[in-house]
Amino acid sequence: MEEKIRIAIQKSGRLSEDSLKLIKECGIQFNNGTGKLKSDSDNFPAEFLFLRDDDIPGYVADGVADIGIVGENVSVETNKPVHTVHKLGFSKCRLSLAVPRTVEYTGLQMFHNKNIATSYPRILSTYLQQEGIEAAIHEISGSVEIAPSIGLADAICDIVSSGSTLMSNGLKEVEVIFRSEAVLISSNTLSAAKQKILDQLLFRIKAVQAAKN
Ligand code: PRP
Ligand code: ZN
Ligand code: MG
Repeated sequence: MEEKIRIAIQKSGRLSEDSLKLIKECGIQFNNGTGKLKSDSDNFPAEFLFLRDDDIPGYVADGVADIGIVGENVSVETNKPVHTVHKLGFSKCRLSLAVPRTVEYTGLQMFHNKNIATSYPRILSTYLQQEGIEAAIHEISGSVEIAPSIGLADAICDIVSSGSTLMSNGLKEVEVIFRSEAVLISSNTLSAAKQKILDQLLFRIKAVQAAKN
């Protein structure tokens, strides 16, 4: 049987549309029926898996998928054995600290001995350590923006793109701690045959990117 590469893509969210667009611009066709979680390409040796973005590093590490498209925020946060192969330049966003709109922000020292809710405990604790701030990190996997209003935390650290999620939850962005964009990640243990397919894919991706510059 012909070797195929399994590519994990976000099922729905900030990255999905642009990820699909890139695949299309690379000339790779596949049937993306609604609700379908797996799809084969008929003109490139690839199979697509549609997953939750936060789960993608784990699937790539476990060999369920060979490569994946995730935000750099997810690839830097993970402790799974995967690596970034290439930056993709789309779905740019930032990881920021935010506080209730009514709080008068006077600087980073304000976070001393405070509770911060986040889905990015590793990136946040590294940042706080560098800045010499001691705060309690409350890890939650989703809907982080609700934490201050229900008394779970004083502040949050989460992804901001348009800023509308912060706004609708009565929060304001006060510090950017990390800038992110979509990246291609790969398993550390690709077979030679799959590495060859990845090289072909990368060649196409770079051509698409070059055409845009
Ligand atoms: C991020 C973040 C907010 C939203 C912010 O989620 O958690 O929900 O994007 O975007 P906005 O500033 O444009 O309102 P992400 O895309 O990482 O998805 P997930 O939380 O479902 O994993
Ligand atoms: Zn996510
Ligand atoms: Mg979110």
